[in-house]
Amino acid sequence: MTLLKIATVGHPVLRTPAREVSREELLSERMQRFIDDLVETMRDANGAGLAANQVFEPVRICAIEVGDNPRYPYKPKIPLTILVNPKIEPLTDETFENYEGCLSVPDLRGVVRRHVEIRVRAWDRYGQEIDQVVRGLSAGTFQHEVDHLDGKLFLDRVEDPRTLCTWANFERYHKAAFVERVQALVARFGS
Ligand code: NI
Repeated sequence: MTLLKIATVGHPVLRTPAREVSREELLSERMQRFIDDLVETMRDANGAGLAANQVFEPVRICAIEVGDNPRYPYKPKIPLTILVNPKIEPLTDETFENYEGCLSVPDLRGVVRRHVEIRVRAWDRYGQEIDQVVRGLSAGTFQHEVDHLDGKLFLDRVEDPRTLCTWANFERYHKAAFVERVQALVARFGS
């Protein structure tokens, strides 16, 4: 397995919508090996997710996984999920304020609005249909990753730039209030 280089903000690859993948290409040895590397790179960097274009592969594939994550200790767990050609549809108008970070935006976090309940349709890494409803904080993680595939960063969705902060200042000044808000959401949905 190979650890891949992660593109950082300002690199055009992050701003270019990724292309769809055919089933044949997905099942190729090269693409299956790439997905292994994507997962390995996400885990090595303690990411909650990683999109293919963040590692310079401009295809609509992303990985999501939350275990005991030191970057996001308050996040409910999400089993390893590979989404291929994903589509997200909000199920209600309700939104919540998420404090997000990103491996491509080093040492910065900010508040973005995310839908609370979404339907996710995609293929898994073997081309099998995924059709699931994702709720709560986990829904924010899915929306963040699919945004990457559309060439969007969380920065684009920050409504109040005054919420931008370093990770140290998030810990020091914003985490307690955020975790309290988020716990209510997690209690409601269990995710
Ligand atoms: Ni990101």
